[in-house]
Amino acid sequence: KPPGPCAIVIFGAGGDLTKRLLMPALYNLANTGLTPEKFVLIGADIAKRSTDDWKSSLHKTLESFIGDPNAEDQIKAIDEANWSKLAAHMSYVQGDFTDAGFYTALKTELESLESQHGTGGNRLFYLAVADRFFGTIVEHLGAAGLVEHKDDENAPWRRVVIEKPFGHSLDSAKALNAQVLSVLNEKQVYRIDHFLGKETVQNIMALRFGNGMFEPIWNRDRIDHVQITVAETVGVEGRGKFYEQTGALRDMVPNHVFQLLAMVTMEPPVGFKPEAIRDKKYELFAAIETLADNDAVRGQYGKGTVAGKPVIAYREEPDVAKDSATETYVGMRLKINNWRWAGVPFYIRTGKHMSCRMTEIAIQFKKAPLAAFQDTSLDTLPPNWLVLRIQPDEGIALQFEVKHPGQTMRLAPANMEFRYRDWFTPEPNVGYETLLYDCMIGDQTLFQRADMVEETWRVVQGVLDHWGSTTPADFPNYESGGPGPDASDALLSDDDPTRHWRPVALPAKDP
Ligand code: BG6
Repeated sequence: KPPGPCAIVIFGAGGDLTKRLLMPALYNLANTGLTPEKFVLIGADIAKRSTDDWKSSLHKTLESFIGDPNAEDQIKAIDEANWSKLAAHMSYVQGDFTDAGFYTALKTELESLESQHGTGGNRLFYLAVADRFFGTIVEHLGAAGLVEHKDDENAPWRRVVIEKPFGHSLDSAKALNAQVLSVLNEKQVYRIDHFLGKETVQNIMALRFGNGMFEPIWNRDRIDHVQITVAETVGVEGRGKFYEQTGALRDMVPNHVFQLLAMVTMEPPVGFKPEAIRDKKYELFAAIETLADNDAVRGQYGKGTVAGKPVIAYREEPDVAKDSATETYVGMRLKINNWRWAGVPFYIRTGKHMSCRMTEIAIQFKKAPLAAFQDTSLDTLPPNWLVLRIQPDEGIALQFEVKHPGQTMRLAPANMEFRYRDWFTPEPNVGYETLLYDCMIGDQTLFQRADMVEETWRVVQGVLDHWGSTTPADFPNYESGGPGPDASDALLSDDDPTRHWRPVALPAKDP
């Protein structure tokens, strides 16, 4: 059902995020009848331009972004009637986000549109801007009286969506939380992590808590270890300036990768209420042991070949220092100190310019206690894997041993595959639809709470400090298009010589 009346104000209306993801997601929501009937969409940015110009520039690029870029078979034509309906609610306001005068002008425009469209004062401010503006914008919104909050269901609501990165370190995340919460109530703050908008990430909860068969074995008794991989083929894609200051750890780990980890490891919530789920995630993050320096390995890509094309080394990318020490790959070993997971290692890795784009969570189960069959030994018996494939080719695979046909009792590994696309027709989805919809209906389940964000930084801060104060002598230490740095495998094999990273590879297509 469509959300109730509201106004959305996008800060950064001329930016990449608005063009590639927010506008396509709003359009997809409008197409399925999930934008409010009484609706205002204001775009705010520094460039001087007219509302018509803003609309037509978004319309021009919309077609190439409304489908899932990874799905081959989606229809990507704009429904002009629906676009016109959406466009009728749009308006552009020019201004400097650091200037108090801009907020006065915004307020005047907003109030006039609110009364024209009858949105009742419900407001969503979306900060699709560089992170250095987050605190400033929130303070100005407060000073201009744009985000007043009353703890009363009938009062108009005011919410603020904050993009990542939420801080660069534990201290800066704490400072940003303090600044934001000096103006807003936690109920008004929507710290977004777009990985939680992915269907398959949400599906992890369905798999674990919608079935009775997994939870009894989902613990240290039956699970040997877990590997989480977020491999990308892209490099820094013109974002050299941003990336030089960020690096793979900050860009991917305390946010995206830890969200995947939490989905797989959190305790069952008491109910599917936002706070019940967020409490469990917080407890999980709080139980992760602070990393020691030798729990993490960093890498940087050299030149190589990705998907058949020659690519340059990270140090040759625009806006990147020739002797850059910024990592484009991270491997880590984590411990979760709670009853369920004591003694189970979690290995995570993420890197750019890898051999293929693949995000998966692979759970290795403990072996049979005895090698009962002739010619098998516990050393040669392959383990059982349950693999949750997040992207692309979303699905779940289970690998187990079966009898190889023939007169002798010989074992062979077999794979049971569930693929989303075999069962369901994908809906056009850029990954922000659910998140935007949830902001409009006021459901914070998929958003980060202040305490969660701080715990995730706490886990990695020691490694960030260590890396910041030492220069890696071996960079670049992995070839583009390869599996990542050699040292990463040692994180696993040092714990157990039989443990290795699973190959970064996609499953074979239909046989
Ligand atoms: C972003 C990172 O948050 O996530 C990028 O800044 C990364 O560096 C991207 O490429 C990955 O997201 P997705 O949805 O393309 O897997």
